[in-house]
Amino acid sequence: MLALHAVTLLGLLVTASGLQCPKCLPWQGNCRDEVETCRLGQNFCVVQDLYVNPVMTSAMCVGGMALHSCGLLSRDVAVRLSGNSFCCTTDLCTNKSYASMPIPPGRPVCQSCVGSATACGPNSLTSPCPNSQDLCLQLSRHVLPGEEGDAVYKACGEQGPPEELLAMAVGPDLAYVHVQRCHGVGCNNGSFVKVPRGKPNGKLCYSCQETGAGECNNEQLRPMTCMGAMDQCLEVQTTDWYHPVTLLRGYASTDLCRSWELLGRLLLPADTLVHCCSGSLCNHAASCRDPLPLLLLPLVFLLLLVGAWSCAGGGNPGIRVHVQGPEDPGSWDMHTHKHRTKLSRIHTDT
Ligand SMILES: *[C@@H]1O[C@H](CO)[C@@H](O)[C@H](O)[C@H]1NC(C)=O
Ligand SMILES: *[C@@H]1O[C@H](CO)[C@@H](O)[C@H](O)[C@H]1NC(C)=O
Repeated sequence: MLALHAVTLLGLLVTASGLQCPKCLPWQGNCRDEVETCRLGQNFCVVQDLYVNPVMTSAMCVGGMALHSCGLLSRDVAVRLSGNSFCCTTDLCTNKSYASMPIPPGRPVCQSCVGSATACGPNSLTSPCPNSQDLCLQLSRHVLPGEEGDAVYKACGEQGPPEELLAMAVGPDLAYVHVQRCHGVGCNNGSFVKVPRGKPNGKLCYSCQETGAGECNNEQLRPMTCMGAMDQCLEVQTTDWYHPVTLLRGYASTDLCRSWELLGRLLLPADTLVHCCSGSLCNHAASCRDPLPLLLLPLVFLLLLVGAWSCAGGGNPGIRVHVQGPEDPGSWDMHTHKHRTKLSRIHTDT
């Protein structure tokens, strides 16, 4: 407790005098020893290694930050990123006291950064990847209005398709996670472009966003014209099995529907169930989940046989994706974090 006070006090003192933090670490490629002078309120020099294991690893964030304690930013916690965080409060202290875990030679090297599209430009710093099979990736997130921040990441990650677009539209609003993967030293050197919504694709889906005022009640559902690659109707519900609440309806890309829960968590609220179906207007509550009267069962079988079941959209079964909750929220600060294997990267700040 005393130590915590001391750190806080030190943080305040240093803030007043303009803490100097390295913007990169000596072992990062392209590091030219630039230093930034912290703005008012930025009280820590920080090295963070953010990940969504195993899809994205080693997204490095280095510099000065305003923090209450040595943890992730609320923006990162909100999208359930995990991470290791090293913080210290004296000038250039991350350069002196944070040492990289020796990574065996021959590991892939990728650009690594976290921030805005302008900050993560084509000349971002590079870092070696933890796994020899890793590819380089770049990822951008665009969220629905009212949710926390857009952000871009360059990092390492496991093998996967060269491009994935997990996109959904709710009313006039678009949200997506766009991932591009490549193979080769620092090949994730692209800039980030906004993903366009596209042209009408002939499908219709219901759309609503529940704010507590009953927007997703059946009577009030509005049909929307689906655009671009988003040709699946979507319904997102709470995981409460007996009384699931519909949080939103809209339309989505197939990548979102078959996606990993892992990437979906960067886009959708924690602990939700995602239902996708491919027939026009199939994301109507009654079409998917109303309990069926027993008498109708033979008819149901008949419908199933001819592939006309409204939820199945021509024989294509609906897909459920479970978006998982956080792995271990708030436990990655250097004193308490559980990722012991990474501890060798951290030397204490004395
Ligand atoms: C950081 O450390 C490296 C080597 O240990 C040194 O060459 C570099 O000048 C230092 N950078 C700063 C900003 O002190
Ligand atoms: C990006 O990386 C590729 C592959 O490593 C390289 O051929 C290309 O020249 C790079 N582009 C820029 C702008 O650095």
